[in-house]
Amino acid sequence: MKFNVVTIFPEIIRDYMNHGLISKAQKNKLLEISLYNPRDFSEDKHGRIDDKPFGGGSGMLFKAEPIIHTINKVKEINDTHVIFVAPHGKIFDQNKAEELKNKENLTFICGRYEGIDKRIEEECVDEVISIGDYVLNGGELAALVIIEAISRQHEGFIGNQDSLRDSFSEGLLEHPQYTRPEKSVFGDVPDILTSGNHKDINRWKLKESIRITLKNRPDLLESKDLTELERELFNEINDE
Ligand code: 6GU
Repeated sequence: MKFNVVTIFPEIIRDYMNHGLISKAQKNKLLEISLYNPRDFSEDKHGRIDDKPFGGGSGMLFKAEPIIHTINKVKEINDTHVIFVAPHGKIFDQNKAEELKNKENLTFICGRYEGIDKRIEEECVDEVISIGDYVLNGGELAALVIIEAISRQHEGFIGNQDSLRDSFSEGLLEHPQYTRPEKSVFGDVPDILTSGNHKDINRWKLKESIRITLKNRPDLLESKDLTELERELFNEINDE
């Protein structure tokens, strides 16, 4: 899968992509990333890419031409799906990550300043995505969040694909986990996890998943169809 990122700060993306599993995935040819700086596509001799909004207002906007020229360049090389990352977009989630994984080629436009000229969206953006209800200085961190969530879905990205059974994949948050030592001044590992009884252990894990989801994200439980066992464990928690 190939990602193209349009940003005036390509180093932010490059640095991040050179660490950990995401770096390994590029060496293994699972992922490819290309960076484009709209300053290189400005017709202005000073490489200017921002200007004042018509009608007044605070701050500066990305001009349309440099971004549209950049996207046209990307499209000369790739058939691509273009995402503008911005706070007014639809909220990104795990389902969206799973949907976007099926695209061969994705392009992210990272805004800066107060926004972008609307003509960019009309001319070359397929969808607008936000990563949450807060405002960031620019789209770079949001693009990285989305790239990483998509990349993790690919076969071979994480050594053991079982790890995809993380928080959210079953509509529940992940249960707590423990490693050695079994007993310490900071507390003991629950006996059941060291019992060797896998049926009981799985039941404990599911119950603790339900417990933490109920505590931190009750909205997830409301929108989930509980299995008979999940309903039973849910009732047990409420009776405690
Ligand atoms: Cl995608 N961009 C910016 N600038 N701020 C955000 C965001 C994106 N998502 C949430 N806040």
